[in-house]
Amino acid sequence: IACKKDLRGKKVLVTAGPTQEAIDPVRYITNHSSGKMGYSLAKACMLRGADVTLVTGKTALTPPPFITTVPVISAKDMYEEVTARSAGMDMIFKAAAVADYRPVHIADEKIKKSDSSASIDLKRTDDILKYLGEHKTPGQFLCGFSMETENMLENSRKKLKKKNLDMIIANSLKMEGAGFGGNTNVVTVITEDFEKELGKLTKEETADRILDQILAQRGEV
Ligand code: CTP
Repeated sequence: IACKKDLRGKKVLVTAGPTQEAIDPVRYITNHSSGKMGYSLAKACMLRGADVTLVTGKTALTPPPFITTVPVISAKDMYEEVTARSAGMDMIFKAAAVADYRPVHIADEKIKKSDSSASIDLKRTDDILKYLGEHKTPGQFLCGFSMETENMLENSRKKLKKKNLDMIIANSLKMEGAGFGGNTNVVTVITEDFEKELGKLTKEETADRILDQILAQRGEV
């Protein structure tokens, strides 16, 4: 496809989709992530000439052609696959919706119901993005994602700083045309000294505009 190969030679890692945290052999905890934003970014990077690895939770999507796809199930799987590959990457996009908590115990057998109420003990998963921020290699560009239902800009700016990111892509679930499942998104691109809302675009267009912003800021276009 004819498009500018302005990411030629770049090694890009994208994570996408939800994680699944098993409770027992039948049940798991997950979220509404469709994977579309991450898959769109992986495809856009590939079309622009990058060498792309996509680490993806379970989605209904077909991975784009001409990329390396690494399927994972849980936050722990994603942590292992991402941290094993991150050091050699020029750019990392952490679009996956990683579970913040997982069950303390995974039951070997199906949990049977009883007449009383039930609860599940949860513990924190390892924060992959935080690890990446702490182990950033020279020149590596790290981009996180942030989905909020309130105080989107303020919370996202906090994450940018706290996790040592170069950029965070924020979207509000409250915004029409943004969020889970749909083909469009309304995101705000945030860096330390820059903030821009991209407006309602398809997730594919959003991916291209995000890449344009990064290259413009690095003076590479
Ligand atoms: N993330 C991650 N590993 C986790 C959890 C999240 O890499 N265990 C990444 C996501 O891929 C995303 C970003 O962190 O890029 C989201 O930031 P996070 O602080 O986890 O957002 P929330 O969970 O929404 O924050 P909070 O619970 O503070 O609202």
